[in-house]
Amino acid sequence: MAKPKASFICQNCGAVHGRWQGRCEACGDWNTIVEEGSSLSAPIGPGGVRIGKGRIIAMEGLTGASLDAPRLPAGIAELDRVTGGGFVKGSVILLGGEPGIGKSTLLIQAAAALAKRGQRVVYISGEEAVAQVRLRADRLGLADSPVDLAAETHVDDIVATLSAGKTPALVIIDSIQTMWTSAVEAAPGTVTQVRGSAQALIRYAKTTGAAVILVGHVTKDGQIAGPRVVEHMVDAVIFFEGEGGHDFRILRGLKNRFGPTDEIGVFEMRGNGLNEVANPSALFLGTRDPNAAGTSVFAGMEGTRPLLVELQALVVPNGMGTPRRAVVGWDTSRLAMILAVLEAHGGVRLGQYDVYLNVAGGLRIAEPAADLAVAAALVSSLTGNPLPIDMAIFGEVSLSGAVRPVSHTGHRLKEAAKLGFTRAAAPLAQQAEESDRAVGIHAIERIADLVALVAAGKPVRTVERVARDG
Ligand code: TYD
Ligand code: MG
Repeated sequence: MAKPKASFICQNCGAVHGRWQGRCEACGDWNTIVEEGSSLSAPIGPGGVRIGKGRIIAMEGLTGASLDAPRLPAGIAELDRVTGGGFVKGSVILLGGEPGIGKSTLLIQAAAALAKRGQRVVYISGEEAVAQVRLRADRLGLADSPVDLAAETHVDDIVATLSAGKTPALVIIDSIQTMWTSAVEAAPGTVTQVRGSAQALIRYAKTTGAAVILVGHVTKDGQIAGPRVVEHMVDAVIFFEGEGGHDFRILRGLKNRFGPTDEIGVFEMRGNGLNEVANPSALFLGTRDPNAAGTSVFAGMEGTRPLLVELQALVVPNGMGTPRRAVVGWDTSRLAMILAVLEAHGGVRLGQYDVYLNVAGGLRIAEPAADLAVAAALVSSLTGNPLPIDMAIFGEVSLSGAVRPVSHTGHRLKEAAKLGFTRAAAPLAQQAEESDRAVGIHAIERIADLVALVAAGKPVRTVERVARDG
């Protein structure tokens, strides 16, 4: 065999370069390229096809017997919702999250729940000693669950051990960054090692039918540190996230070959571990002040579940210089669009104001349906007029100033009614006719209708002038 050739691999994105360079051309990151020995499992590029060594593979058609993916529910409803009804046998899930967010806690809780129901669950900790994992389980009141526990980082030993015994239903590897395999020549923690270890574990899952969960740490900017390559190899990627200072934790699917990716699971971290939050709307609404201007309640959807959340806006005159726009939990460019539409079609000029927008509870919203609620919070803050406390808002704003209907109007209204809201400002949709009439609808056709509703007779421009002069 030829002498293994060294390659230069970006530790951020996994791109392979022929020589060392300061900046990775693939992802643009600096100082991420490290020389690593070639790996046996490295992909064979064009021109490198091995001939004469392969075996002939049998082809099959698309039709034929295919069993419905057999699932293994964890028994934790918020987790099962995100996986799509349980872990699929033989599949591999990457669970990403910042250090300390609660990944190990969630997984030991899931492991214990499964083990208690008679499934064999193996928990391999590469970061903590067995005693530490036991201590946590003890604190969570799970010490008596029959989980097979080991502290190990050598993947070859792990796979050999797993293959020797009864095939477990679930194997948890905490974390993939600590794992190494002798199959590749590279230091532990490098992309090559992480990829090699993940490959070995994925092969184990596919050949035995055990479900495998790989824990992956995430850097500040939200990338699963180093093993971004792993994201492409696994069947599902789920993220565990939370905002500093809040006890809520949100589990979110990013990729799922066997289920939805728009569902979220909501947990609360307490002294006794992670508790499921069955009614997240109540949590994200919190206690509200009926006299506070600048807040609105958005009736949103997260996957198939309606979710009410408070949006907070603060609009303050900017003395001089470039006005500030700061957003937490929403898209900055979307805010710029709403500001432009408010100015062009609503007569609300915020060019001289600093604008701050915050989604309560540390939630992150991606739905365009939040447009109208954002606009309402902005106008409310500008005019000082609080919105009615029992009003929920949703609707997509288009650049023409028209407010478009959004999906699931009925679901949104039902959730609002359930939480005691009696009115909604929303575009008129056909579904609204059939839906729960417990909520009265203020039909909003254009952004100007909303401005009129929120400003309630106060001329927006006068308010602006007063604010600027004052
Ligand atoms: P952990 O699961 O170790 O995080 P990760 O594996 O993602 O790094 O969680 C650690 C944090 O959770 C730690 O700051 C303490 C907190 N915690 C609680 O608040 N309650 C609990 O019952 C447990 C076990 C941890
Ligand atoms: Mg951990």
